[in-house]
Amino acid sequence: MAEKFYLTTPLYYVNDVPHIGHAYTTVAADVLARYKRMMGFDVHFLTGTDEHGQKIWHAAQEKKEDTQKFVDRMAEGFKAAWKTLGISHDDFIRTSEKRHETVVQKVFHKLLQQGDVYKGEYEGWYCVPCESFWSEGELKEDVDGRLLCPDCGRETEVLKEESYFFKLSKYEKDLLKHIEANPDFIQPISRKNEIVQFIKQGLKDLSITRTAFPWGIGVPDDPKHVVYVWFDALINYISALDYLNDGKLFKKFWPADVHLMGKEIVRFHAVTWPCMLMALGVKLPKKVFGHGWWTVEGKKMSKSKGNVVDPLALSSEFGVDAVRYFLMREVAFGDDGNFSMQSFIKRYNADLANDLGNLLNRTLNMIEKYFKGQIPERPDKLDGAKDQLVGAAEGGASGLVDQNMNNLAFSKALDNIWEKLVKPANKYIETNAPWKLAKESKAKELESVMYVLSLVLKETAVLLSPFMPETAGKMWQQLGLQGPLSQKTEVAGVKVAKGEPLFPRIQK
Ligand code: MSP
Repeated sequence: MAEKFYLTTPLYYVNDVPHIGHAYTTVAADVLARYKRMMGFDVHFLTGTDEHGQKIWHAAQEKKEDTQKFVDRMAEGFKAAWKTLGISHDDFIRTSEKRHETVVQKVFHKLLQQGDVYKGEYEGWYCVPCESFWSEGELKEDVDGRLLCPDCGRETEVLKEESYFFKLSKYEKDLLKHIEANPDFIQPISRKNEIVQFIKQGLKDLSITRTAFPWGIGVPDDPKHVVYVWFDALINYISALDYLNDGKLFKKFWPADVHLMGKEIVRFHAVTWPCMLMALGVKLPKKVFGHGWWTVEGKKMSKSKGNVVDPLALSSEFGVDAVRYFLMREVAFGDDGNFSMQSFIKRYNADLANDLGNLLNRTLNMIEKYFKGQIPERPDKLDGAKDQLVGAAEGGASGLVDQNMNNLAFSKALDNIWEKLVKPANKYIETNAPWKLAKESKAKELESVMYVLSLVLKETAVLLSPFMPETAGKMWQQLGLQGPLSQKTEVAGVKVAKGEPLFPRIQK
């Protein structure tokens, strides 16, 4: 039986349309999901939308729209965006769906009954944009004495309301033990250190209901309370697997192999969520990975600055795969990155138009010219340079890519493909000068060079397919190969079908 692999993205708030930051996590998850499927895993890839809470309620009010209609409309925007970006999720969960609501209510009820949830009063500060509670010591103060959210820097609100609390404090020691015993649980290591430090300062019980607005999942038997949006949303990772119902998916896929997210919400996933699961007696996810944040032309992305990058506009201008490639290649997953049009175009022209596009084009041109479009047979003997390239194309490169993919080092995996296959193959063309071989009628050598290049291109298409599915498909087609992309496919004797250049150079 195939090994299972369950991965998730955060559920995105629907107060806004998807931007490049949301696309980043979702594309990364998609690349990993596609890679794992290719490696034979039984993959379950979950994404979706977070539709409750004060922020969304306000957004709908501002638009004078019925809240449910508003979230319905906005959720469609996310679904459409992911379709355009080629996202291959297996499920899309919305927190306003019944299947989710029922589980949240049951979880709440269970924890209340077993004494892990109790009623009290919350007095403190709240950041609406982050939907986070803060204590006074954590806040920043500006020159006018306003108390600001330490995360996003916006002004907080004072809250004093009746609330149910979750006994986070009770699980502090067990959580620390778990983190120590499982070094891979929180990654990268910098995030893990921040979290450990945070827990060691002492965990306070968490307020998990609100009464100031009506938009959320109702607390069973206490309808003036709605469940706090984070407590509600985190449960999606198991409600989508039908936890507490018939649970077949839950039995098969839980625990999650990895929860992917941006670094600003690791705390919710590496502290709140595991404590909730411990209270429920459910296994913890294997890994929580917090990637870095993108700035745009050096600045924080924000609506007020007007610098929000729309992944759909970018894709319609330069192609979906160019956007996917750039996001995965430009920065190491885990580090912060900067998006600029200049760096986008530079990568596009250098890596995609020059290195990859030209390699395919030149090779196919020569196969047409010298062999009437038919890839020659495999040579009996391979010499030094060929040997190396063939070695890379027959396991050397894919071995390195596999290591890096398993560490979520997407940029390094792409670098492996370029450094072991694409660039050496271009160099191989220069050093072997097939046009000279043709002129000198060295038929055997010419055959061998073209065979090796075809082999490299086939392997490149396969390894690139999780990152650039459309491009890989086009390469496959142009190489004349049939059937699903696979390393086992034979290239010898195949009739190529040269098409349009993959990445026409951007003249800017
Ligand atoms: N609704 C919560 C998550 C609940 S999960 C149970 C939430 N939503 S969000 O819409 O604000 O999405 C946050 C996520 O979007 C980040 O964790 C990250 O995955 C992505 N990004 C948003 N802006 C980003 C950047 N500027 N750069 C990189 N990723 C960022 O938080």
